[in-house]
Amino acid sequence: TVGCRIIGVGSAVPTHEMTNDDMAEFVETSDEWIRTRTGIRSRRVLSTSESLRSLAVDAARRALENAKLKASDIDLVLHASSSPDDLFGDATSIAAGIVQAERSQEGSLQESDAFAGPAGFDLTAACSGFLVGLITGNAFLTSPCCPYKRILVVGADALTRWVDWTDRNTCVLFGDGAGAVVLERQDAKTGSPAVGADPDRNTRRGILSYMLNSDGLQAHQLTVPFSGTLHELKRAGGKPAVRTSQGRYAPLSMNGREVFKFVSRKVPPAIEAVVQAAGLTTNDVDWLLLHQANKRIMDAVAERLKMPLSKVLCNLDKYGNTSAASIPLCLDEAVREGKVKPGDIVVTAGFGAGLTWSAAVFRY
Ligand code: ACO
Repeated sequence: TVGCRIIGVGSAVPTHEMTNDDMAEFVETSDEWIRTRTGIRSRRVLSTSESLRSLAVDAARRALENAKLKASDIDLVLHASSSPDDLFGDATSIAAGIVQAERSQEGSLQESDAFAGPAGFDLTAACSGFLVGLITGNAFLTSPCCPYKRILVVGADALTRWVDWTDRNTCVLFGDGAGAVVLERQDAKTGSPAVGADPDRNTRRGILSYMLNSDGLQAHQLTVPFSGTLHELKRAGGKPAVRTSQGRYAPLSMNGREVFKFVSRKVPPAIEAVVQAAGLTTNDVDWLLLHQANKRIMDAVAERLKMPLSKVLCNLDKYGNTSAASIPLCLDEAVREGKVKPGDIVVTAGFGAGLTWSAAVFRY
């Protein structure tokens, strides 16, 4: 096995749109501030009649359609999310959802049908989630003993669930959405899987290089911490009580200025390193696909890399920061608009809570 390739991409967003002017009605902010500091004009917000799972299923079905595949062609679902409908994970429900959607379309859905669908599990890595999923999928598919041929990688988040709607420093930044890609194992015609020795390197489509990094000493800069209070369980017979912690997660808190500085410092060298590891230079890169957090960050990274802004893919203005969904949501739009074409070199980078930063190069 030599590698794996993205063969389908899809996305979905909630129906409810919230503009900057809408936000200014309940928090002290303005369209002007949000636009000039972030590049965001609007975002989508999940309503109580929608679920993140159904959004993820819609994105996954579109990716399957784009790849001209059926749910039964998928062996594993990797779901990156930090705001799932169920904290125990949504991947298995998404796997069941794509199978059920297909069966009901074919009119063959039966209550008694035993589930025969893909396996699935969740990954939590906030805004780096999609890249962590992509790299994990790549690791499976390029492992010699991997029984899988195709993996669906879904990034879905509804961080509007975690924000404090009275905190203007954070609530204006986030939006909800889902994106998905289908990864397929590519078998080598010849040669060795090592990048430097790969004879197909100059034409091979697929993931060419990647890296994941983290600095846990900076974890406090961006968190959704569990906030418990002491709960005493009284025992019978006067024995000492058992003490547990009961509670809930506190709203998202972020030191925006520190995260901004961190990203500007760490992401450009990571991109240069993966581009070099793929045997390329930044001149060979057709598209820069960054996690959609802030237009100023994207411009600063492009500038550091001496890449023209025309190569920067961006749809942040419409959706805000959709966390694990932002990269596939942007890729899907770019593919549908005919910007990203087969054979194009894309360098992508994720960053966020952890703090983490990651990058990958693929030939689409
Ligand atoms: N409307 C109006 N004023 C505001 C708003 C708002 N929505 N938010 C903050 N302000 C004010 C602040 O109170 C501050 O006022 P002060 O100077 O009187 O105290 C002033 O605007 C400037 O605030 P800064 O924080 O310095 O603004 P900055 O230019 O740094 O922009 C931002 C803030 C947009 C958050 C930026 O720092 C940023 O994008 N940081 C990176 C975020 C990021 O990439 N996160 C990672 C991914 S998220 C994840 O992993 C979940």
